[in-house]
Amino acid sequence: MSDKNKGKGLIGWIDERFPLTKMFEEHLSKYYAPKNFNFWYFFGSLALFLLVLQIVTGIFLTMHYKPDGDLAFSSVEYIMRDVDWGWLIRYLHSTGASAFFVVVYLHMFRGLLYGSYQKPRELVWVFGMFIFLALMAEAFMGYLLPWGQMSYWGAQVIISLFGAIPIVGDELTLWIRGDFVVSDATLNRFFALHVIAVPLVLLLLVVMHIIALHEVGSNNPDGVEIKDNKDENGIPLDGIPFHPYYTVKDIVGVVVFLILFSVVVFFMPEMGGYFLEYANFVPANPFKTPEHIAPVWYFTPFYAILRAIPHKLSGVMAMFGAIAVLFLLPWIDRGKVRSIRYRSSAFKWLLTMLIVSFIGLGYLGAIPPTPVRTYLAQLFTAGYFGFFVGLWIISKNEVTRPVPQRVQ
Ligand code: HEM
Repeated sequence: MSDKNKGKGLIGWIDERFPLTKMFEEHLSKYYAPKNFNFWYFFGSLALFLLVLQIVTGIFLTMHYKPDGDLAFSSVEYIMRDVDWGWLIRYLHSTGASAFFVVVYLHMFRGLLYGSYQKPRELVWVFGMFIFLALMAEAFMGYLLPWGQMSYWGAQVIISLFGAIPIVGDELTLWIRGDFVVSDATLNRFFALHVIAVPLVLLLLVVMHIIALHEVGSNNPDGVEIKDNKDENGIPLDGIPFHPYYTVKDIVGVVVFLILFSVVVFFMPEMGGYFLEYANFVPANPFKTPEHIAPVWYFTPFYAILRAIPHKLSGVMAMFGAIAVLFLLPWIDRGKVRSIRYRSSAFKWLLTMLIVSFIGLGYLGAIPPTPVRTYLAQLFTAGYFGFFVGLWIISKNEVTRPVPQRVQ
């Protein structure tokens, strides 16, 4: 606590009982962040903003939604038509889910660009990956709640994947569903997990993510460690206080984001069937499978990997493997240079291959398979995993450009 505020006024009174000023200084006004943050550094604070938006809109949806197989679909219709501003709250929440993934994918990509997962930030990355897992679980369970055709059959397909696991598979799917098919029991447990259990885990993980980040300090687009160059007071020469400099920058980010977000919410909330699938405007019918079952866009890269491999168990393993391998990234990359600015062209080629493969898989996962498309999906799957294998190989003796001492 600074002496200036000690014992003064309400803040002083609180500070003597709770480390308010101490925390504010440690994490904001005296947290020194690199002065060269760029566009890619908007997405952490945007993810935080979206987490809050999802929780707040979710609370209001829960006031009117009915987690019951007979009532769920019509309660969503009721929210859309009869509840004051209900349509806005629902569209904010459904668009918010997609926006969350856009933001988190860009946030993760930044990590790849600047090697933010490398030593000493391995745990920041690993906590991030647990957040990503929790976010996928949260979105998957939320999608069942409107109880439309795609909610129902999407859940049916994904849960039945666990049936491919040898010995325990059948028992496990039964345990997850709580019934022999997706039913009211499934809806109830997904509701409980979606509205309270997973959000609590997410919040906890985000706190741990940020505590870990503040322990080691932020990376930056040059990948230079700013703590290596300090002034006589121990303040990094290339650092600036997070508050007010980056709080103001992040507010600009939120405002620009809100403009783009509003365009989608108000003019294209279904986003051509990508954010809200058309089949989900039809109530769930356990006796009628939709013609084409596809998950929402943010799952389609992983879904395409699953479909690319004809053997079911191998497909399931590849799909989970595609996520698992990301956890290991800090140890797969054996390079000493962080930022793409100073890395080899081999690294740039590999990263390009990853991006092309991931987007290609995302596209293929959203459309019905044909033999040619399956072949392409296999190629992109090889491209996806090829990035990690290639990185492991090239990073050992990578020829890099000289890294500057200070940020540029
Ligand atoms: C709810 C989701 C998330 C929230 C709210 C969140 C929040 C943040 C914030 C506020 C920062 C500091 C600002 C910034 O660097 O942009 C940050 C940094 C970071 N996050 Fe996340 N994050 C989330 C998900 C993830 C995921 C899924 C990953 C990757 C697996 C990840 C990896 C990182 C890394 C490596 C950094 C350090 C970046 C650097 O210093 O260059 N985060 N995060």
